[in-house]
Amino acid sequence: MVSRMKALVLSGGAGTRLRPITHTSAKQLVPVANKPVLFYGLESLADAGITDVGMIVGDTAAEIEDAVGDGSKFGLRVTYIPQEQPLGLAHAVRVARDWLGDDDFVMYLGDNFVVGGIRGLVEEFRRRRPDAQILLTRVADPRSFGVAELDPSGRVIGLEEKPDDPKSDLALVGVYLFTPAVHEAVRAVTPSWRGELEITHAIQHLIDTHADVRCTVIQGYWKDTGNVVDMLEVNRTVLEGVERRIDGDVDDRSETIGRVVVEEGARIVHSRIVGPAVIGAGTVVRDSYVGPFTSVAENCRITDSELEFSIVLRDSSIDGVGRIESSLIGRHVEVTPAPGVPSAHRFVLGDHSKVQIHS
Ligand code: G1P
Repeated sequence: MVSRMKALVLSGGAGTRLRPITHTSAKQLVPVANKPVLFYGLESLADAGITDVGMIVGDTAAEIEDAVGDGSKFGLRVTYIPQEQPLGLAHAVRVARDWLGDDDFVMYLGDNFVVGGIRGLVEEFRRRRPDAQILLTRVADPRSFGVAELDPSGRVIGLEEKPDDPKSDLALVGVYLFTPAVHEAVRAVTPSWRGELEITHAIQHLIDTHADVRCTVIQGYWKDTGNVVDMLEVNRTVLEGVERRIDGDVDDRSETIGRVVVEEGARIVHSRIVGPAVIGAGTVVRDSYVGPFTSVAENCRITDSELEFSIVLRDSSIDGVGRIESSLIGRHVEVTPAPGVPSAHRFVLGDHSKVQIHS
């Protein structure tokens, strides 16, 4: 008999580690190709044949519940499980103990993005059923992740949480597959230097007690670390897969070429859109060019400008500024030309902004 498998999705976190892009308090709602990163995770769980999802929520519970609802739009049944304080991933498993029962489960961190989904991984886990299976990926700077050390045969021998001196470049991806063996392990751990009960330590406990912990190295992983280049790349990867859909208004002086999505309520006026690109609901593009690998979110105004390989988050306007490329523009941003000569730059830049200008 195939055992039932649930998913525990972590969408808590205090939102204290705000990155330049994460102006929303729930980091799981950062958009990739105009869709919250969390939604891709939920879709990939549904795709892997999972229906029961326990959603761990914290301070941002209202925002998450508002976005996800009862999960039916993803084909899921979502149960919200409050975590009073963000005391760590192993703590979240403790909190969900009753809901999880004795079922196997996928633990999925809601701010992680795995290109291509997790269906194959879930199938493999169900077939071989080790005590736990972890995902690893090579990263340039492993110090902000859990880091694995493997022996020459590829077995995990040690895991460290955010080490100053990483033993490898293999970072723990925020997708873990567990049997109920994890419950004893999460009870065994004590708070780390950051005051959290780390799942990394619980998995180390499984290794130390000779449980069968397997690992799979994957490619195509992303998490918002505030790195704009990475964010543009993941946006590009996702846009590669979109299909043409024009639900908004495109006037007869405009042209949309290739895989372009114009959401309902968006208007394209005297403009040229070359896909892959998405234009969010309520956005107006007028006398402009929007080029490949660009996502413009909801309720933006793009006027008399050119935009390519960029992300514009909602409620922003770009007016009469010529060409913008390889850029990430946040929410409620206004980009306009400076009036008059002599030309001088005038800025109102938020914390941690990065701007490149002709000098
Ligand atoms: C957590 C885990 C870490 C893992 C990361 C992946 O870190 O503790 O081991 O590499 O998720 O997203 P956190 O998001 O709590 O900093």
